[in-house]
Amino acid sequence: MKTLFINIQELLQIRTASEQKVSGAAMATLPSIKNAFLLVDNDLIADFGPMEDCPEVDASVIDATGKVILPTWCDSHTHIVYAGNRVQEFVDRINGLSYEEIANRGGGILNSAKKLDETSEDDLYEQSKIRLDEVMQQGTGAVEIKSGYGLTVEGELKMLRVIKRLAANYPISIKSTFLGAHAFPIAYKEDHKGYIDLIINEMLPKIAEEGLAEYIDAFCETGYFSVAETERIMEAGKSYGLIPKIHVNQFNAIEGISACVKHQALSVDHLEVVTDADIEALKGSITMPVALPSCSYFISIPYTPARQMIDAGLPLALATDFNPGTTPSGNMNFVVATACIKMKMTPEEAINAATLNGAYAMGIEKTHGSITVGKKANIIITKPIHSYYQLPYAFGTNLIDQVWVNGALIV
Ligand code: NIG
Ligand code: FE
Repeated sequence: MKTLFINIQELLQIRTASEQKVSGAAMATLPSIKNAFLLVDNDLIADFGPMEDCPEVDASVIDATGKVILPTWCDSHTHIVYAGNRVQEFVDRINGLSYEEIANRGGGILNSAKKLDETSEDDLYEQSKIRLDEVMQQGTGAVEIKSGYGLTVEGELKMLRVIKRLAANYPISIKSTFLGAHAFPIAYKEDHKGYIDLIINEMLPKIAEEGLAEYIDAFCETGYFSVAETERIMEAGKSYGLIPKIHVNQFNAIEGISACVKHQALSVDHLEVVTDADIEALKGSITMPVALPSCSYFISIPYTPARQMIDAGLPLALATDFNPGTTPSGNMNFVVATACIKMKMTPEEAINAATLNGAYAMGIEKTHGSITVGKKANIIITKPIHSYYQLPYAFGTNLIDQVWVNGALIV
């Protein structure tokens, strides 16, 4: 089945197949064609170009006059699978408690772990489905989802099986990350080595056997997993073929980034606090830095110093961090707008970060993240707008008309 989009006001993020990520000054350029056509053949992009080159083909035709078309968002960092909510902590923070204070009195990740334990696998699937449906409507066409609220063998497997079921039942690409090292469960509060042994000796072999994850994550942070512990987890994960993608530098810079680069992590995520040494460590590496501005917004912590990093020549990706504690939102449109408004990224930089660089940060840059012949036909069609600048400018207004995934309209 062929679909031909014609009279597109502007077709954004057109790339050749060899472009796998965008770094530094190149992030300021968002290649596009004005007054364009786009031909989709089944689930793939077959052709595109200026309207004067539009081919005559047997296809259903969609007129996109006044509208912009861009690739769907690639959200490379989420915790979409969780149980219940943490609204009480939200109110506690309004009343003056910090994220750290709430975590120290048994809230935070351990609160979500308790709720997850009390929730059946089927119920967890139903709760997560609602969020996945919502983010697809908001233009997300590929998503990474982490475990990490189980913190027991059974709990972690339950989460990963739900992710696997979502991946099987949804058209969008879903990448799965094992985050057993998210927090120390109460039973292991004084026995960190014991919990890490459990992750390595019990959880990892089962996850590998069932093929439940491609990536391994850890929360490398003061009070959570030390750099040495994170390194042990990365090494163990790699021995089972799991590639590291690590939570690091959210509250403190503890030299975790250079350790992640040394272990060839695909991404380092959060980076609200970044030192010059961290930036040096990332230069020339394969590791994609990932910023999560909705998290900074929601819990009032600093924003990732995007300008400093991009000006130093680094690439940067943007993701939501959708989770019940620090970011109860999976809206990539808000992420792009906030990156422009609060992190001083230009719209071009933010869109590059939320599409091609996001795809790279979850290992799908060969099939997603740009308008490229042979890539998945995953596109956002906007409502009529004056230019793509309106997307971050009119933050909070839904400017998406349609979302297509694998060449089919999402309804
Ligand atoms: O990415 N920082 C670690 N993990 C999550 C939050 C976990 C939670 O509070 O539930 C994050 O922000
Ligand atoms: Fe996270």
